[in-house]
Amino acid sequence: MKVLEGESLAVPPLWMMRQAGRYLPEYRQTRAQANGFLDLCYTPTLATEVTLQPIRRFGFDAAILFSDILVVPDALGQDVRFEEGRGPVLEPIDPARIGEFAGKDVLGHLAPVLETVERVRQALPAETTLLGFCGAPWTVATYMVAGSGTPDQGPARKLSMGEPEAFDALMDILVEASTRYLVAQLRAGADAVQIFDTWAGVLDEEGFKRWAIEPVRRIVEGVRAEIPGAKVIAFPKGGGARLKAYAEATGADALGLDWSVPLAAARDAVGGLALQGNLDPMRLIVGGAALENGVRQILEAMQGYPHIFNLGHGITPDTPVAHVERFVQLVRGG
Ligand code: CP3
Repeated sequence: MKVLEGESLAVPPLWMMRQAGRYLPEYRQTRAQANGFLDLCYTPTLATEVTLQPIRRFGFDAAILFSDILVVPDALGQDVRFEEGRGPVLEPIDPARIGEFAGKDVLGHLAPVLETVERVRQALPAETTLLGFCGAPWTVATYMVAGSGTPDQGPARKLSMGEPEAFDALMDILVEASTRYLVAQLRAGADAVQIFDTWAGVLDEEGFKRWAIEPVRRIVEGVRAEIPGAKVIAFPKGGGARLKAYAEATGADALGLDWSVPLAAARDAVGGLALQGNLDPMRLIVGGAALENGVRQILEAMQGYPHIFNLGHGITPDTPVAHVERFVQLVRGG
């Protein structure tokens, strides 16, 4: 929270995107008790348990609510399933019927997730930050339109160009639902929230302004209208040369950086705004010198600057737990 206020700390705070997940044996064990992945997200006792697991094991400085970005389309009434070995599967939307997603009781549907936030806040040590999150409208829309993950987000890119009014209507619905959802998470006990825009980087210049920057700007504004000073981290993966414009326009308190971003350039671009990232998760899989060098380079580049140590994207299931232990030691000067 200090870094989000613009303070630079001698040892940066540390957490990892997807820190609760399949690389942890205790996660796999809890996961097996649930009736599928969404059931895990909607069962407060189990979701609380998996949120806390990486904190117990590694002592990260922040916990992130265990849930998924696709609970929002689920709450809007789209059919969302997670299939073993295939990832998310949704009933692709009909552009002519986007209006049917409006006016849904999103917070009623997500009440179990908000209960998880309350439970986690009560169970966490006071010094551990609790992060809530949602997906950015653009990234969530890529799944809603295609019905699954895609190599190039082609279906959403085509719809956004071919039927921009329909796409605007979808963005409006997602902006409203996401704003209310983040406000509710902050009221339930989240200290700050992160907006994940995993697929921002595939947009062209016009698309980036209209579908990545503008919806996130509106969410940040809407959240702060309800909760003045609310702290928001935005993660526009692949934002690259557009980070300066993104930071200025969205008003986020910190930007998450993927591993392709040169840190010196990012520091110059955002002028004092906190930055989060950006170790390539592959270095965590490989371990050894690859991990040590990666961590050292980031620590050096970000010295004296408000920085939250993290990966440049989520940790993957094939990461050895011992490498994560070493990673924590390295970041903390060991
Ligand atoms: O970071 C955390 O630990 C909090 C929990 C979290 C999950 N997903 C848990 C999860 C968060 C913040 C997310 C975000 C998310 N979900 C994003 C944005 C960030 C990113 O990683 O790009 C996206 C695009 C999704 C959509 C999603 N969820 C996909 C594509 C998949 C399948 C891929 C896979 O790894 O299987 C998921 C499933 C998912 N979400 C898992 C976890 C731990 C694995 C599911 C399982 O346990 O079977």
